[in-house]
Amino acid sequence: MTNSAIIAIDGPAGAGKSTVTRQVAMRLGLVYLDTGAMYRAVTWLLQSLDLPVQESKALQQALSDLELRLEAQPQGDQLVWVNGKNVTEQIRTAEITAGVSAVAALPSVRNALTAQQRRLGASGGLVAEGRDIGTAVFPNAELKVYLTATVAERARRRSADLIQRGLPLPDLQQLEQEINTRDQLDSTRAVAPLCKAADALELVSDGMSIEQVVQQIVSWYEAKLLPPGFS
Ligand code: DC
Repeated sequence: MTNSAIIAIDGPAGAGKSTVTRQVAMRLGLVYLDTGAMYRAVTWLLQSLDLPVQESKALQQALSDLELRLEAQPQGDQLVWVNGKNVTEQIRTAEITAGVSAVAALPSVRNALTAQQRRLGASGGLVAEGRDIGTAVFPNAELKVYLTATVAERARRRSADLIQRGLPLPDLQQLEQEINTRDQLDSTRAVAPLCKAADALELVSDGMSIEQVVQQIVSWYEAKLLPPGFS
């Protein structure tokens, strides 16, 4: 059976969306689309061009010249290319993380990236993670999940992740504050703010392992999309 469904996984920063979405994609044979990486890539581009974070002719030009490519790797990771340059590592720095919400609030940036995301999903067979996938990018997605966790839990996970990557570790309180700030910015912007789609299934992942979260989403998918007897 070919799999042409679209699964939308939205939720706030640090809820574990990337790891979970990648594994759901592998398990179900779907293409993985990390839309946050696309907003990070544009943030990197603006910083490298020294462009102010505001609507302008120069921004329009940069967006129309932009060649943004996500290249899937065999282990499920992806490389991110901007205008022929591999920026996979650079888009994960604290500087980009601090600046990305403001860039993602610019309507012209959202229009350009939403259009590219829809092109990538035109023939289905995709699991996309972000903030507005179920509400704005793919409102007709076959399955919508709103994946979240408490701020304290997300800060704990972020610190474990930073330690694992050998990066400097801010204290937990500072991490919680950063997460709160990003939630606030992402959920109050005028265009396509972070919010749960009315028809999304909510999953609060405190106390759950990655495997349990993946399994829950796969079960929802099977219950919703497979004909009886297929799972
Ligand atoms: O998931 P992430 O942390 O890599 O996302 C980076 C930022 O991009 C996040 O602060 C909000 C923004 N974003 C967005 O506005 N819409 C999306 N679909 C995905 C991410």
